[in-house]
Amino acid sequence: MLHRMSCKLEVDSTIVFTPHFSCSMHRRVVEARRRKSLQFQSRVEEKYTPGFSFLTAGELLIQGWSLKYLEELRYPGTGWVLVEFDSRVTWIETLIQLKRIIRMGYSPLIAHPERYTWCRRKKERLIKLSRMGCGVIVSARSFRLKKFATAARELLREGLSHALCSDAHSPQDFILDETLKKKTEEFSVIPWHVLTREMPGMILGDIKLPELPLLQQRESG
Ligand SMILES: [Fe+2]
Repeated sequence: MLHRMSCKLEVDSTIVFTPHFSCSMHRRVVEARRRKSLQFQSRVEEKYTPGFSFLTAGELLIQGWSLKYLEELRYPGTGWVLVEFDSRVTWIETLIQLKRIIRMGYSPLIAHPERYTWCRRKKERLIKLSRMGCGVIVSARSFRLKKFATAARELLREGLSHALCSDAHSPQDFILDETLKKKTEEFSVIPWHVLTREMPGMILGDIKLPELPLLQQRESG
């Protein structure tokens, strides 16, 4: 049963923690990691509120046919669940699993689609997924990974993403700052504020995202 609450959060100052989980993990491991994440959230809340709001969700690796832990890992107050797949996953398996997630009443947010062969071969597949109700999030970390940088840039060049996330794993990674904004604006047809504020705001507000491609022109000035 999906419990949703209306959440009024300022998207500019809301940080969602999405530690890694997998459908094949033992429930005890999932619960322990959840507890740890929530403890971390409490610690940063003590330090940074007021000013920032923090939420804990997860990035769920879909492996095999199991679809466990969607309820635990969805973005709080919404039906959105951040999902990733093994990089060699086939298109058909991806499609089946995403359809199953939607039938269960959740909305999949596809993390770093640029990593998947099925996407690099045929980017337009993301249009179909957006029509089904999926969200698509390119990872800024991919800009630094030789294998995925071209695909990540192309998706933004063609409007084939709803949002851009930092996906920062270490202090060397990009964060959503002016440096990344300037870099992204070199190739993205989607304005920075749409990628980093408007669409994330819709996710936090549990609102369906528009169909891709997002073809708004870059703002002048
Ligand atoms: Fe990931």
